[in-house]
Amino acid sequence: MHLRTASLLAAAGASLTGAESHHARQATAPTGTEAWAAAHSKAAAALSKLSQNDKVNIVTGVGWDKGPCVGNTARINAINYPQLCLQDGPLGIRFGTGVNAFTPGIQAGSTWDVELIRQRGQYIAAEAKGCGVHVLLGPAPGALGKIPNAGRNWEGFGADPYLQGVAAAVTIEAIQSQGVQAAVKHYIANEQERNRETMSSNVDDRTLHELYLWPFADSVHANVASVMCSYNKVNGTWACENDKIMNGILKTELGFPGYVVSDWNAQHSTNAAAINGLDMTMPGSDFNGRNVLWGSALNQAVSSNQVPKARLDDMVKRILAAWYLLKQDSSYPGINLKANVQSNHKENIRAVARDGIVLLKNSGILPLSKPKKIALIGSAAVVNPKGRNACVDRGCNDGALGMGWGSGTVEYPYFVAPYDAINERARSDGTTVSLQSSDSTSGVSNVVSGADVAIVIITANSGEGYITVQGAAGDRQNLDPWHNGNQLVQAVAQASQNVIVVVHSTGPIVLETIQALPNVKAIVWAGLPSQENGNALVDILYGVVSPNGKLPYTIGKSQSDYGTSVVTGNDDFREGLYVDYRHFDSKNIAPRYEFGFGLSYTNFTYSDITIDSTAKSGAATGKTIPGGREDLFEAIATVTASITNSGGVEGAEVAQLYISLPSSAPAAPPKQLRGFDKIKLKPGAKGTVTFNLRRKDLSYWDVRVQNWVVPAGSFGVSVGASSRDIRLTGTIAAA
Ligand code: NOJ
Repeated sequence: MHLRTASLLAAAGASLTGAESHHARQATAPTGTEAWAAAHSKAAAALSKLSQNDKVNIVTGVGWDKGPCVGNTARINAINYPQLCLQDGPLGIRFGTGVNAFTPGIQAGSTWDVELIRQRGQYIAAEAKGCGVHVLLGPAPGALGKIPNAGRNWEGFGADPYLQGVAAAVTIEAIQSQGVQAAVKHYIANEQERNRETMSSNVDDRTLHELYLWPFADSVHANVASVMCSYNKVNGTWACENDKIMNGILKTELGFPGYVVSDWNAQHSTNAAAINGLDMTMPGSDFNGRNVLWGSALNQAVSSNQVPKARLDDMVKRILAAWYLLKQDSSYPGINLKANVQSNHKENIRAVARDGIVLLKNSGILPLSKPKKIALIGSAAVVNPKGRNACVDRGCNDGALGMGWGSGTVEYPYFVAPYDAINERARSDGTTVSLQSSDSTSGVSNVVSGADVAIVIITANSGEGYITVQGAAGDRQNLDPWHNGNQLVQAVAQASQNVIVVVHSTGPIVLETIQALPNVKAIVWAGLPSQENGNALVDILYGVVSPNGKLPYTIGKSQSDYGTSVVTGNDDFREGLYVDYRHFDSKNIAPRYEFGFGLSYTNFTYSDITIDSTAKSGAATGKTIPGGREDLFEAIATVTASITNSGGVEGAEVAQLYISLPSSAPAAPPKQLRGFDKIKLKPGAKGTVTFNLRRKDLSYWDVRVQNWVVPAGSFGVSVGASSRDIRLTGTIAAA
């Protein structure tokens, strides 16, 4: 059965999915441009009913901790505009009490499953709407993950702009299809936690466009309502008062019709921020509730013509247009973060948690089949003994891990730990489970004795910089497992010949110590599964579902192999385009497990590549629509391949397409992801995967002409099971 195509062609209209529906619905559905134009004219009409004071109140938060949500603006009676509620975050409703804790972005990315990602977005937004949240502060493709230990990479979808772009666009379409505004964040080049509020990210123009801007362009193309500017400076100027970044690139080049909201307290000036493109300040004061940079200060600045009236009007129009675009002007639920909105949404959480699991190694030990005795070892096997939500904003690493820490977290409504789920399954199989719910190496041999398999669970955690956990101030200190995980696995491998290592982690860890142990027969990369942690694991360990996730980042053999690290001063982004697999490939560094890698309980064979192309070299010429020039989003090539399930069980394969630019282009990474398609097949069945390449996917950013250019010559096309397991190749010629 053909599941989905991962093309962004679909995003050409407000909520279209798939190339076919694109064609079918083009005639009736308004394009993004038309829908925004209609919303803007409503906003313009509303504007005339507003006093200057009203306008200032629409663009200024009410102040830190002064409203029901993390961000709030005042009610404006003249136009029946509500007290606007902006709430975190990317995986559900922070501080909600009747909500679900959805899977983190990185787990969603790890599924490579566009339909699961879409459903996840829909369900999160349904909960947001049920709680009366107008603006959901996510998704977060703004940490691309160039630094493997950076604290917040797990809030995004993986270390590749294309994967981030597809997942962000689909998530935004899904959120906004429910009538909730999405705020994509953090714009831009916010790649680490250390000094995030003082450092400058100095990024060259081409790298900015081809890596960091890419997912934001796809987000704007998906008609995102809002963009959150980040804490850091960009090329020396604060992101939230950066004319080039906000007015130049976002609003002009990408034609963004919505509003820029500041990250919380990321605004540094009254006039410069206003003139250079900020549209809404949050939370409206500093965290002491004192310093207010807009509010009355903006009122004065406008009255004295230091900030043009037209600029204030433009801010208001952008904010109101987003509100009209999402039809929030007609009956929206009142704000209630205690609303019970869980519905059946945990089904998506379990599916994403499960399908995001990546099987890294398996010498025949998995799937399990009614073992007599299982030994289960590790503090992460059980729920945090202090309580599943004992640590504020999940700021600790005690017990089973489901998400990182920080503002992008949610209270768990329940938590199924590995032990809970394994124990339940064991009962029905007649298996005995012996548990050691600590990371101590000394008692291991007792627990393991007589067990047919020993499952050891290790973790690595990270989060947002305002919380420090065991010395990690957001960013991880290294790529080792926490709590002496390597030693724990060594101790288990000394006592058992059948060790299964399960990793719950916010990002890559170095696996070399573990990999060197012959008794480690399987490594299950279980990522961040949130509240369905144990259930997802059991589904994979027992082969209820064949593993079908693929790594959304590279697992290197050492931290230095990545060529990037958390910096202390400013970051000059010297690695340029060469991040994650782009770096490993260009420097010929063998990773332990490459980007896109993942095993299954079955086998897939690839055959019959077809390539159809109308590609012509040259610069994009289309008019600007949300996301950039219109022709950048048009399909200029289609590649298909046949996939056969040649193994013994049903499974799903994520086929990936990588492009190599012709030699006429300026130097570029050897391979770049430009398509993926996941297909589910019964044993023996054959199906087709399809990759639709947009003009943008075959272009590089030409810094001289300031445009996307399709280079002349022959493009390499590589289709495979990972970034290094290429099964089919071909070429596309651009005359
Ligand atoms: C700061 C974080 O960087 C941002 O992601 C979040 O939305 C705001 N705080 C509000 O909590």
